[in-house]
Amino acid sequence: KLTEPFSLVLFGATGDLAKRKLYPALFSLFKSGLLPQNFAVIGVGRSKRTVEEFRTAVRSSVDQFSRLKVTDENEWNQFARKFFYVIADVNQPGQYQGIKTVVEENEKDWNLQGKGNRLYYLAIAPDLFGSVSRNLRLAGLTETSGWKRLIIEKPIGHDYASAKKLNEQMKESFTEQEIYRIDHYLGKEMVQNINVIRFANSLFEPLWNHHYIETVQITASETVGVEDRANYYDEAGALRDMVQNHILQILMMVCMEPPSRLKTEAIHDEKVKVLRSLRKIEESEAAEYVVRGQYRAGMLDGKLVPGYRDEKNVNPASNTETFVAAKLYVDNLRWAGVPFYIRTGKRMPAKATEIVIQFKEMPKNLYFNKNNDLGPNLLVINIQPVEGMYMVLNAKKPGSINEITPIAMEFCNNCDQGTPEAYESLLHDAVAGDQTFFTHWDEVSLAWKFIDPIRRAWDRGEIPLEFYESGTWGPQAADDLLAKEGHRWWPVS
Ligand code: BG6
Repeated sequence: KLTEPFSLVLFGATGDLAKRKLYPALFSLFKSGLLPQNFAVIGVGRSKRTVEEFRTAVRSSVDQFSRLKVTDENEWNQFARKFFYVIADVNQPGQYQGIKTVVEENEKDWNLQGKGNRLYYLAIAPDLFGSVSRNLRLAGLTETSGWKRLIIEKPIGHDYASAKKLNEQMKESFTEQEIYRIDHYLGKEMVQNINVIRFANSLFEPLWNHHYIETVQITASETVGVEDRANYYDEAGALRDMVQNHILQILMMVCMEPPSRLKTEAIHDEKVKVLRSLRKIEESEAAEYVVRGQYRAGMLDGKLVPGYRDEKNVNPASNTETFVAAKLYVDNLRWAGVPFYIRTGKRMPAKATEIVIQFKEMPKNLYFNKNNDLGPNLLVINIQPVEGMYMVLNAKKPGSINEITPIAMEFCNNCDQGTPEAYESLLHDAVAGDQTFFTHWDEVSLAWKFIDPIRRAWDRGEIPLEFYESGTWGPQAADDLLAKEGHRWWPVS
């Protein structure tokens, strides 16, 4: 439970992220009794609305999207009272005074003049990160003897150079320890569980290396298309949108060495080492290691959905990828020679994020014969929508003589009751001052440095864009990528 009072100043208070994720997460934290007695959420937006209208909008977002629901109006009123709204054009330093007044009034009520804890959440376009953090400083909002923190969302730039520039701008007002970069995949329960599964089980840790693991596959598939985000997505593409951040973060969690202790810095050091060991894919090698695809029209959930180039606001000649598959190598002692296959795409048959650890096969004697098509052992970690894991083992078919059949041992994390949403855990950690599940600058910068040459190779237009029908698992080239190594994608469970 959090006990220190705090103010959360939310830029982008009328935006989609706030509505779908942040208000519901705050309410669930509140309802779970995790928020302190004194806190305030100060929404900042350009559109005109009264505090009452703002609170009503927060209520409808909670009713629609929150994991925990409002069951009692008293409880709601207590929560709603914490919300304030300030109209401001964030590009005008003069307009920050309204924010300051509300922040200071609350702090006065809590007897914390000059000592308040302040969290600035930028749920706005990234090109504003620099100017908002500067204006916060110019308005004196960063002057407090309590703590101050800045939370930002991706995309942090569109390549290494632009990310660096953005970071330098923010660093004029906030230190690295004060910047909380959200990668919401790090807030997911099962992503946070990877370290526990690995380092708390003697069953796995000794086998977690190239001696016993044949391949690792990471899939993050979605059924949705570009929806109404074409303005952003058509410039970004799946490589920047999903691989540079979420997929590489999962890869780091799977590959990192055990940290010396469970402290942010120790974990972070090990994660960064993974990125440093990640084999660089040169521009000239992109075609060999990476497949890019774009969805065409197709049937999904019994409906015909349009192709990417026919979506609203998408350039009809767009070469933006909506699918990426790649073969990666982590060139260190633990992972030498093990291919890591990753794939992510929109308009695929299922929404699923999962990791498959495929173990090496047993020597081919004893039970290997023409009647028994023994598969390898698998450990499947389901990140979403089902949270859990299962192992595929070989066992004797009951009643048979040495006939072998694959069996599964399963664990489900969220079947009996729901688990906290990523944003609940991330907001909690940001208020608590725990940066473990946030992205540090060197992770962001190394991830961009890895991605940039691939992007450049694609932008030169020499590497074909492969097409896949909506409702399929991506282009044929993604299967060929594995087949070349004698592997195949495991079906998503
Ligand atoms: C976001 C991407 O970061 O993650 C989206 O910008 C994507 O394109 C989303 O749809 C997926 O998140 P989740 O939590 O639904 O898997």
